Amino acid sequence: MVFKHYKLTLVLVALIVQTIQITCNDPEIRSCGNASIRIDVGDNTVGSEAHISCSNGYTLWGNDSIVCLDSGQWSQQNAYCIPDGIGKPYIQSFDGSLYLFNNFNKSNYSQAKEYCTNICSTLIEINNQVEDQFLLETMNNLEIDVLWIGLESVNGGNYSWPSGNTTQTNQYENWGEVVPEHIKDNPPAGTCVQAFSFYEFWFPNPGSFCDTELDDFVCELR
Ligand SMILES: *[C@@H]1O[C@H](CO)[C@@H](O)[C@H](O)[C@H]1NC(C)=O
Ligand SMILES: *[C@@H]1O[C@H](CO)[C@@H](O)[C@H](O)[C@H]1NC(C)=O
Ligand SMILES: *[C@@H]1O[C@H](CO)[C@@H](O)[C@H](O)[C@H]1NC(C)=O
Ligand SMILES: *[C@@H]1O[C@H](CO)[C@@H](O)[C@H](O)[C@H]1NC(C)=O
Ligand SMILES: *[C@@H]1O[C@H](CO)[C@@H](O)[C@H](O)[C@H]1NC(C)=O
Ligand SMILES: *[C@@H]1O[C@H](CO)[C@@H](O)[C@H](O)[C@H]1NC(C)=O
Repeated sequence: MVFKHYKLTLVLVALIVQTIQITCNDPEIRSCGNASIRIDVGDNTVGSEAHISCSNGYTLWGNDSIVCLDSGQWSQQNAYCIPDGIGKPYIQSFDGSLYLFNNFNKSNYSQAKEYCTNICSTLIEINNQVEDQFLLETMNNLEIDVLWIGLESVNGGNYSWPSGNTTQTNQYENWGEVVPEHIKDNPPAGTCVQAFSFYEFWFPNPGSFCDTELDDFVCELR
C-alpha cells in the first residue's frame, strides 16, 4: 500500500514539473516607420528558436534568429532592417552598433533626423575617441568631406546627443580650434553639428544653417 502511494506521488510530481516548464514571453518587436521587424515564434519553450525577418522593401542585417534561454528571456536581438539596395561599404558595424552612411538623400538637419527615426535609429552618437576615429576613417574611405552628426543644442546652453548624453557626461568632444569658446561653452538654441573628415573636427552651425541640405549623414542603429 505504502509503495503504491509512493509511486502515485512520483507520477504527480513529474506532472507538476512538466506543467511549470519555463517558457519565454512573446519577444518585443521593434517597429519604426515601415522598417518593422517580424518575429515568427513557433514554440516558446527553452531552447526554441524564433525566426526574424523584415517587412517588404527592407533587408535584414545581423542575426536572423533568437533563442529562448533558461532564464525565460529571449537572447539579445541583433537584427536590423535596412532599406533594400544599400550594401557595404555604406553599412558598417562597429562596437555593437550598425551605421548607415547615407549619401543618397540630400537632407537638412531635421530631414536627416527623420530618416534615421524611420529606420529605428538616430543620427550617430559619438561617445569616445575610438568611435570618432571609426567615423573619420569611414568618411575618408567613402570620400565624404562633411556630414550631419547627432549633436545639437536644442534649447541652448549645452550640446546633447540623441540619448540625452551631453558632451560633459560623455567627457568627449572634438571641436575645431576655430570654434569660438563662447559657442563651445554656451551654444545658442537650434545649433546643429557637422563632422569634417579632412580637418578631423566637429563644427557647430547656427540654426539657419541647419536648413541647408548636405549630401551626407550617418544613422546609428543599436
Ligand atoms: C510607408 O509605406 C507607405 C506605402 O508604401 C508609404 O506611403 C509611406 O510614406 C511609408 N512611410 C514611411 C515613414 O516611410
Ligand atoms: C544567432 O542567434 C543564435 C540563437 O538564435 C545563436 O545560436 C547564434 O550564435 C547567433 N549567431 C551570431 C553570429 O550571433
Ligand atoms: C532616399 O533615396 C532613395 C534612393 O534614391 C529613395 O528611393 C528614397 O525615396 C529616399 N528617401 C527619402 C526619405 O528621401
Ligand atoms: C543640458 O542637457 C541636458 C540633457 O539634454 C538637459 O536636461 C539640461 O537641461 C541641459 N542643461 C542646460 C543648462 O542647458
Ligand atoms: C552615454 O555615454 C556613456 C559614456 O560615454 C556611454 O557609455 C553610453 O553608451 C552613452 N549612451 C548612449 C545611448 O550612447
Ligand atoms: C528642412 O526641409 C524641410 C522639407 O523640405 C523643410 O520643411 C524645413 O523647413 C527644412 N528645415 C528644417 C529646419 O526643418
